[in-house]
Amino acid sequence: MPAAPDSRILIVDADPDFLGWAAAHLKAPGVTVATAEKADEALSSYQKNRADIVLAEVRLPGISGIELLKRIRMNDPNAMVILFSGVASTSNVIEAMRLGAYDVLGKEKLPYELRTIVESALRSNESRRLTRAQVSEVPTETIQETIIGRSSAMQDVFKMIGRVSRSDAPVMVTGESGCGKELVAGAIHKFSPRTLKEFVAINITSIPDNLMESEIFGHEKGSFTGAVTQRIGRFEQCDGGTLFLDEIGDMPLAVQSKLLRVLQEGEFSRVGGNQTLKCDVRVLAATNKDLEAEVAKGTFREDLFYRLNVVRIHIPPLRERREDVRLLAEFFLHRQSTRRRGPSMRFTDDALALLEAYDWPGNVRELENTIQRACALSNSDVLLPSDIPLGSVGASRHANPATTVTRMRDALTTLIHVAQTSPDIELMPWMEKEIVRLAYRHFEENAPKTAKFLGLAVTDVQARLDLGGVKKATKKAVAVEKSAKE
Ligand SMILES: Nc1ncnc2c1ncn2[C@@H]1O[C@H](COP(=O)(O)OP(=O)(O)OP(=O)(O)O)[C@@H](O)[C@H]1O
Ligand SMILES: [Mg+2]
Repeated sequence: MPAAPDSRILIVDADPDFLGWAAAHLKAPGVTVATAEKADEALSSYQKNRADIVLAEVRLPGISGIELLKRIRMNDPNAMVILFSGVASTSNVIEAMRLGAYDVLGKEKLPYELRTIVESALRSNESRRLTRAQVSEVPTETIQETIIGRSSAMQDVFKMIGRVSRSDAPVMVTGESGCGKELVAGAIHKFSPRTLKEFVAINITSIPDNLMESEIFGHEKGSFTGAVTQRIGRFEQCDGGTLFLDEIGDMPLAVQSKLLRVLQEGEFSRVGGNQTLKCDVRVLAATNKDLEAEVAKGTFREDLFYRLNVVRIHIPPLRERREDVRLLAEFFLHRQSTRRRGPSMRFTDDALALLEAYDWPGNVRELENTIQRACALSNSDVLLPSDIPLGSVGASRHANPATTVTRMRDALTTLIHVAQTSPDIELMPWMEKEIVRLAYRHFEENAPKTAKFLGLAVTDVQARLDLGGVKKATKKAVAVEKSAKE
C-alpha cells in the first residue's frame, strides 16, 4: 500500500479474527499495524505510541468506539479516527462525525473499501491537521433517534449533519416535499452547541407578504396600521439559537435584502424602528424549488443565494433509497402502537414488499400518513397488503418485483462473491460472522429461519453469533427446533 513512510495504524475490535484479517490486509512496507481488543488497551497503546490512524469498531466491550474517539480527540485534536460497525445507528454516525471522526463505515464494506479509505486518510492527514477545529461539548443524552435511514445516501446526510453542526455556517437543505428537510435542520441544531437555545422554524409560504418583515424582524409600536404594540420578531426570539427558514424560495425581494444584511453584517432593525440591533443567530434554509432557476429569473437574489448556500445538504427522494422504506415503516408502526398503548403491531412480508415497491411521490410524509391510516383502519395487530391504503397513484403500476428477502439475498451473494473472487480477499471467519449477523437481524433474531435461509445448521448459526444475549436466544431456538423434531 503506498503510504507516507513510517505510518502507524491502530485497529480496535473485540474479534481477534477480524484483527488478524485487517492487520494482514493493511500491512505494507513502512506501515506498522498495532491491534487492541478493548478501548482501554487502545488508549494506553495510543498514549505510548501515537498512531496516524485509529480504526475502531463502534461496539466494543466496556468503553464504546464513540467514547474512544472522544477520549483520543480530547487529548489529541488532530487524531484521525475511522469508525466502523455492523450496526451503526443514526445518532452514532452523526455523533461520530460531530466528534471529528474521519469517516464511519459499514463493516460489510471493509473488504473492498478499507484499503482505499486508509490510503486517502493518510494522504489528507497533513492538511486536515492544519484545518481541523476543536469540538465543543453537547449533552448527547438528550438526542433521540428520530431520523431513520440506512441507505448510503442517508448515511451521507448524517455525516454532513455531524460535520456542519460544529460550525455556524448557513446550510441550505434541499429535496422534494416530505423528504425530511425540517427534520435535518432540527438535527443540525440539536447536535450544535446552540442546542440549549431555541430552534425557530418559519414557513415562508404561510405568512402573508406584507407581514413577513415584521414576523421575522419585529416592529415598533405604530409602525403600520394594526401595529398597536411593539413586537419582537423571530430573529430576536432565537438569539443564540437557530432560525430555520422553510420554503425560502418564496421570500419577497424586500425581505431578502434585509436578510442579506443580517447575514453579512449581523445587524437589523425592527420595522418602523431606527435602532440598529444585533443578534447571534444561525440561519438554516430549505427549499424544494430550483433556486438557481429563481436566481436566473430574477426572483431570488444571487448574493443571498451564495450566502445561504455555503453548505448544501440534499436529501434524495424516498424512491431513490428504497432500502430505507422498511426501516421507516417499522419505526412509524412502532410509534403508532406505542401511542395507542395497544399490542405491538407488525407487517406481513407481503405488506412490506408492497410498501417497498411503491414510488412514494409524497416521500416520507406520505409513508408516515399511510401507516397512520392503516393503523386506524385495521382491526388486527398484523397488517396485510389489503390493510395498506396507498395513494391515488396505483401501486401495481409501480410494482418492483424485488422483495426485501430477494434484495437481502442479493446483498449477501454479492458479499460472498466479492470475498471469493477478489484474489487478495478471503472469506474470513469474521466476514461469515457479519453475514450471519446481518441475516439474523433480518429474520428478527429467529435462528432457525436464519439457518434455513443460509443453508446452515442452527448450531452453526449459534457458533457464529458469539454475543452473550444472542447465545441465549439461539439456545432457546435450538431447544424449540429439537422439541419440534421429537
Ligand atoms: N428520515 C426520516 N426518519 C423519520 N421520519 C422522517 C424522516 N424523514 C422525514 N420524516 C418525517 O416525515 C415528515 C415530513 O418531514 P419534513 O417535514 O422534515 O419534510 P420536508 O422536507 O420539510 O417537507 P416539506 O417540503 O413539505 O416542508 C415528518 O413528520 C418527519 O418527521
Ligand atoms: Mg418542511
